[in-house]
Amino acid sequence: MNLIFRPATLNDIPALLQLEQAVVEAERPFNPQIKHSGAWYYDLPALIAQDDSLLLVAVHADQIIATGYVQIRATKPALTYRQHGYLGFMYVAEDFRGQGINQQLMQNLITWAQERGVSDFHLDVYAGNEAAIRAYEKAGFKPCLMQMTLHQE
Ligand SMILES: CC(C)(COP(=O)(O)OP(=O)(O)OC[C@H]1O[C@@H](n2cnc3c(N)ncnc32)[C@H](O)[C@@H]1OP(=O)(O)O)[C@@H](O)C(=O)NCCC(=O)NCCS
Repeated sequence: MNLIFRPATLNDIPALLQLEQAVVEAERPFNPQIKHSGAWYYDLPALIAQDDSLLLVAVHADQIIATGYVQIRATKPALTYRQHGYLGFMYVAEDFRGQGINQQLMQNLITWAQERGVSDFHLDVYAGNEAAIRAYEKAGFKPCLMQMTLHQE
């Protein structure tokens, strides 16, 4: 398959906004509190333009079929490392899943951050998102912090 990985550009934003909604819809079953309209996750112009982040897209037949970003963030002072690469906007179009595309994309993001002195990586994933958890575990990630929520009126 002819697949090109490249950094996203501002021209990609209309397509990326649609894929962002695909991530929102994929996560909706795991969190009933996600808004039904106006649920936006990412600051796309910043992720594209800022020096401390890389938003990558995978393109097949002129269509963006996968996305993901790494952003270098300051870590909690109590940890042994000063900064980490935060991974997000992990998305692969349904017809292309299970072919290792997310693995390749994550490896590109991790390498980019390593070249900038980053050795530790974090991401958030819903506990029920088994496909995503398996994909991340295959890339070497291990569960760490669990967020607990309470809705009480
Ligand atoms: C999570 C996601 C990005 C993974 O992308 P991918 O390219 O399919 O992942 P990979 O092929 O690199 O992942 C490898 C592993 O993921 C698991 N996996 C991927 N798709 C799966 C599916 N549909 N069902 C079950 N497991 C799946 C498998 O264990 C697979 O390993 P295998 O190839 O040895 O079977 C993709 O499923 C997706 O876009 N999901 C919807 C959006 C989403 O939930 N994003 C995550 C937000 S945290």
